Amino acid sequence: LFAGEVDFLKGVVAMDGLPPDDRAEVCFAGRSNVGKSTLINALTGRKGIARASNTPGRTQEINYFTLADSHYLVDLPGYGFANAPVAVVEQWQRLLKQYLAGRVSLRRAFVLIDARHGVKPVDDEIMTLLDRAAVTFQAVLTKADKVKLKDREKVLDQVRGALAKHPAAYPELVLTSSEKGDGIATLRAIIAGLG
Ligand code: GTP
Ligand code: MG
Repeated sequence: LFAGEVDFLKGVVAMDGLPPDDRAEVCFAGRSNVGKSTLINALTGRKGIARASNTPGRTQEINYFTLADSHYLVDLPGYGFANAPVAVVEQWQRLLKQYLAGRVSLRRAFVLIDARHGVKPVDDEIMTLLDRAAVTFQAVLTKADKVKLKDREKVLDQVRGALAKHPAAYPELVLTSSEKGDGIATLRAIIAGLG
């Protein structure tokens, strides 16, 4: 699947701008700056196809990427703190929630969690929204390269504990580093399996 064509399709700013729901779709959600766009670049092997930056609030639209002819990868705006005007942030947060709860063809939401910080209250809120919408989600820990091996278990335990409270959570976690490549092949295989 990932050996095929990858293209940017469009940036969506309102629900009526979503493309036809005619193929398998997975999205990447998470706090601003957690590494959503960078992970899409790592998965597709196309550095820069999704725009990443050190400034929280970089992605402000729902960005669609086509993967072969069979899948959409969706890069979402972050939630939590963002470096953008309040009114603008509120508008994209509303859209994000409408999308997560209302997109019929969404096969799985990957909820990205910074491996240094674990699950925060805002993550918990999004997970609750996904529970209510019955959207299966899977936690993906990011920036594993920034956490020492001996500290990893503690974060993994915290995340597993948080996930246990969410009926829509898929129990298996994926630990990734877009920088070093850890977990990227695993995540590709998971997405390929969601036909
Ligand atoms: P928003 O679009 O603002 O919500 O952010 P985002 O979640 O898309 O984060 P983005 O991909 O823009 O990355 C934020 C910062 O984290 C960038 O400076 C990335 O280079 C860095 N980053 C992302 N993934 C990794 C990783 O695996 N390891 C390290 N060390 N840095 C990473
Ligand atoms: Mg982004």
